[in-house]
Amino acid sequence: YNADTKGMLKALWELPEQCARAWELGMAADVSPMDNLRQVVVTGLGGSAIGGDLLRVYATQRLDVPVVVNRDYVLPKFVGPYTLVFAVSYSGNTEETLSAYVQAREKGARIVVLTTGGKLGELAGNDGVPVITVPGGIAPRSATGYLFIPTLAVLYRMGLLPDLSHEVAECTSLLQSMREKLKPEVPRDSNQAKMLAANFHNRIPVIWGSSGTTEVVAQRWKGQINENAKAPAYWNVFPELNHNELVGFEFPGELLRRLYVVILRDPQDHPRVQKRFAITREIMEGEVAGVVEIMARGSGTLARMYSLVYIGDYASVYLAMLYGVDPGPVRVIDTLKARLA
Ligand code: F6R
Repeated sequence: YNADTKGMLKALWELPEQCARAWELGMAADVSPMDNLRQVVVTGLGGSAIGGDLLRVYATQRLDVPVVVNRDYVLPKFVGPYTLVFAVSYSGNTEETLSAYVQAREKGARIVVLTTGGKLGELAGNDGVPVITVPGGIAPRSATGYLFIPTLAVLYRMGLLPDLSHEVAECTSLLQSMREKLKPEVPRDSNQAKMLAANFHNRIPVIWGSSGTTEVVAQRWKGQINENAKAPAYWNVFPELNHNELVGFEFPGELLRRLYVVILRDPQDHPRVQKRFAITREIMEGEVAGVVEIMARGSGTLARMYSLVYIGDYASVYLAMLYGVDPGPVRVIDTLKARLA
């Protein structure tokens, strides 16, 4: 492997420990309880926003207030003194996030910043806003533990979520056992991630989750395939896709033969959604190149979400290797940012 692929694989290998460390970082943050909280907003882009979606999905059945993910320069109108805003930027230099941070200050929101530093770290430091400084040196998308799990610890410390340290510990040990079967030394026929990559190779992955916990994981798989393998991929969500996307699969012929469908499942998916998976699969099979179902593992929500994230992360790096591309650099994003400067 070249240095870049090695670096990406190293970050993946270390994800379990990252999750454990991330909880500690959140526990050490300088935050105090908040009365009359009305909304939580996570503002960030790309790899720094997906943690917000993980929080949104995680918290939807646990928090009394909504979590909104903002991927824009402008914050929603409702943001005010009763809003908790997590401003997240791995580099600390993403212009949309800097703009949203300034707005959050103007609107008097409570803010917590997650970053490695950059301009955001500097601004927050000057403003006396609590900063959770996460370790640098990896790609933002490799830092989902650092950019998500501290938010759970902050919400716990503010009295809004229960103590989730046991869930974090379960997630860490589950990922530690999973990596032994996903690592590069394990040959393809016993390595689920390598098998997936082989099935994705020269095809278009279509990743489906459900509106429960797997929705955000499907989005994550798509993003990882895009950014690591530099390849197209698409995602959607049950039951919504049964009301539109499925019809697009009536199109006959070669086009569908290029699609490889993954259905991400959670044992706690709604029973009617589980039935929809089965019927949809029957309808699709034979039309597309293949359909595979992957079941989440673990008992806590965190472990179930990350067990699926982990398989997709590894598969996307193996797909990069099959395509002969470096998984690390995202040159087109860098070019675009430079042209905007
Ligand atoms: C992911 C990636 C991008 C960035 C995004 C925002 O690895 O490189 O999706 O996360 O451009 O940048 P940051 O995270 O630095 O705010």
